[in-house]
Amino acid sequence: MANKNIIAIDGPAGAGKGTLTKRLCDYYGFAGLDTGSLYRAITLCMIEKKHDMDNINLEFAINLTRELSDTHKILDYARNPQIRSQLTNKYVASVAKIPEIRAIMREYQISFGENPPALEDGRPAKGAIIEGRDIGTVICPNAPIKFFITASPETRASRRLKQYLDQGESASYQEVLASIIARDEADRTRATSPMKQADDAILIDTSLNNKEETFQFAKRIIDEKLKITLV
Ligand code: CDP
Repeated sequence: MANKNIIAIDGPAGAGKGTLTKRLCDYYGFAGLDTGSLYRAITLCMIEKKHDMDNINLEFAINLTRELSDTHKILDYARNPQIRSQLTNKYVASVAKIPEIRAIMREYQISFGENPPALEDGRPAKGAIIEGRDIGTVICPNAPIKFFITASPETRASRRLKQYLDQGESASYQEVLASIIARDEADRTRATSPMKQADDAILIDTSLNNKEETFQFAKRIIDEKLKITLV
């Protein structure tokens, strides 16, 4: 039977979706899917193939996405730390706005939600958490729980700057802030599946809550709505 324990988490860059998803997955024994890493994987592969990213060839991009998805190589790319480089950041929104690419990725995400893979330790997953920009609105509109995670652009830029410095990349706060604002704008205003809070999503502002408070808040809602037995 298709899995019904689906939690959709959406929100802009650097809001803390990944941190919350990991914590919830560990706690409840759910499988997590970071859908941004899929769009990043396609972008990285195009960059590696020396494609002209300022003039994306649609046919090339679609064929490559299909191949990466059919062969599951997309998952290898998604594990490459280079998906988080500033160069990938610069181009990922232009790749993610292509409707045909989103259509291929949609199938992948729906199937993950309905049939989540086993956990790393081999236990079957008790549910799925899918995080991105359009999960509550387009990919899983019937998810029983939806969160929209946000934070001020300044808070998100400071967190992202720290991540760059930790991974050995040099960057300035102003550059990172400008890039976050530009990507938010591109994600919010694109024609296909723009980033949007679903009407029934619960808003969490992580500039006002620390990681533990955010987790506890989400946990209270999940415990009320889903019946999950912890072992
Ligand atoms: O990690 P960060 O919060 O910076 O972003 P991400 O979740 O890795 O997503 C990177 C980019 O992929 C976003 O800026 C979007 O352009 C795109 N994306 C999308 O269009 N739809 C999704 N469901 C997830 C990501």
